[in-house]
Amino acid sequence: MASVAVASNVVKRLEGKVALITGAANGIGESAAKMFTKHGANVLIADINLGKAQEVSKELGPNSSFVICDVTKEADVENAVNTAISRHGKLDVMFNNAGITFPPKFSIMDNDLSEFRKVIDVNLIGVFLGIKHAARVMVPGRSGSIINTASVASTIGGSAPHSYTSSKHAVVGLTKNAAVELGQHGIRVNCISPYFAATPMIMKALNLTEENLSSVYSNLKGAILRAEDVAESALFLASDESKYISGHNLVVDGGATVVNPKFSMFEQQDRN
Ligand SMILES: NC(=O)c1ccc[n+]([C@@H]2O[C@H](COP(=O)([O-])OP(=O)(O)OC[C@H]3O[C@@H](n4cnc5c(N)ncnc54)[C@H](O)[C@@H]3O)[C@@H](O)[C@H]2O)c1
Repeated sequence: MASVAVASNVVKRLEGKVALITGAANGIGESAAKMFTKHGANVLIADINLGKAQEVSKELGPNSSFVICDVTKEADVENAVNTAISRHGKLDVMFNNAGITFPPKFSIMDNDLSEFRKVIDVNLIGVFLGIKHAARVMVPGRSGSIINTASVASTIGGSAPHSYTSSKHAVVGLTKNAAVELGQHGIRVNCISPYFAATPMIMKALNLTEENLSSVYSNLKGAILRAEDVAESALFLASDESKYISGHNLVVDGGATVVNPKFSMFEQQDRN
């Protein structure tokens, strides 16, 4: 266990680890980059948004750096992983987090093939390339934690357009398959499925503001999902505290996907 106590109530859960996070210039990835460095990791921010990646890295200080990376391009992902190795000599954690949402066209009859492909390219092919190249450098060391960001759209239908739901269901399948193969080499592969977290991506897609955030259906009253809450789950899966967890889809949804609110006798009770 690599945890080291540094102050009376602060434990560094990723001390000495090297983590690469895709899509870390914003939202969930940015929060994870902040949390991982706070917990002692060296973090490599890989994003297409070079300006914002630079900004985040500067804010995080010497334990972080950045690399330009479009996760749909194999050469970029390969280069990002090689950069982690050349800068730090190893890769312990690969967080395949970059993702895009959807054009606001909900009916399958209005969906353009090119738009559908674009979402699959980033959300699924990007994860595939990330797992592939992380495995390449983790297998010889026989250890590592690979984390993929899925979504509650990986477990239910109707919460997002077809391309997004398809891509996130596929991320869970790929996570399980990779966990089986890479488990043979001591490498864990898991995914995280957040509900609507208040990030730029989701605020824009759902037309949300801080004021109307609580209008999003939540089973867990009084709590709002923030990017930091998702980053906490990633921290757990990155750390040795989850050393026996692999092939798991960690759903971070306050129980939203286990209930049909129209049938919930508890909600009915509330209303009566
Ligand atoms: N925010 C939510 O409520 C929510 C819910 C479920 C799942 N997710 C998933 O979480 C992940 C992060 O989402 P977010 O809300 O933080 O989004 P965000 O838009 O705030 O950040 C996404 C980041 O990914 C980067 N990116 C986009 N395309 C890229 C590419 N081709 N290569 C490299 N980087 C790229 C962007 O530049 C940005 O920095 C995504 O996979 C998303 O599908 C988000």
